[in-house]
Amino acid sequence: MPPSQPPAPLRPLRLGVLASGSGSNFEALVEACRADALPAEVALLVVNNPGCGAEQRAARLNVPCTLHDHRRYGSREALDRALVDSLQGAAVDLVVMAGWMRIVTAELIAAFPDRLVNIHPSLLPSFRGARAVEQALAAGVTLTGCSAHLVHLEVDSGPILVQAAVPIASGDTIESLAARIHRQEHRILPLAVLLAAQRSGLLGSAQA
Ligand code: GAR
Repeated sequence: MPPSQPPAPLRPLRLGVLASGSGSNFEALVEACRADALPAEVALLVVNNPGCGAEQRAARLNVPCTLHDHRRYGSREALDRALVDSLQGAAVDLVVMAGWMRIVTAELIAAFPDRLVNIHPSLLPSFRGARAVEQALAAGVTLTGCSAHLVHLEVDSGPILVQAAVPIASGDTIESLAARIHRQEHRILPLAVLLAAQRSGLLGSAQA
């Protein structure tokens, strides 16, 4: 009998995070890694808005950060090629769109097949696209939430990894509702990363 393959060395997953705004989900991921809730490290943050909150959090948390300002690229594909170069240069295993407010193309998706996770502030497939919290309030629904999913080409589509429901209270404003959704996002995003890593064979279930 041929000798069996030695088990793959256990090493922390290397995560790349893409963020455009305040970066609270990015920070939640860093905290989950540092608390050993996730066998991973955030190897690189990429931002597209100079000076954004996520960039400031990266400096405070001592996480490497690269700026790719989308205004400097001629097309979505060109931006995504630059993202892939940076992410592959940092040898990341899996990429998380944590408030990445750009439509992504096949350039990015194909470079990380089933290894690209997005967090969205609604119970998908309801309220896709921009301003999902406002959309839910305007629709008058009494329940909304957040979804973490694998990224496919159609905006805010792809297999759901984890969802959390958030009831809408009478008198809720965009700010009050968004704050409650954020708290749930911070809870489910590390879990979604773990599930995505297990699904794509990056982690065995024993490492969870
Ligand atoms: C989050 O609520 C995330 O779900 C949303 O942006 C916010 C970023 O917050 N993403 C989208 O709407 C993508 N369609 P953060 O910068 O504090 O993590």
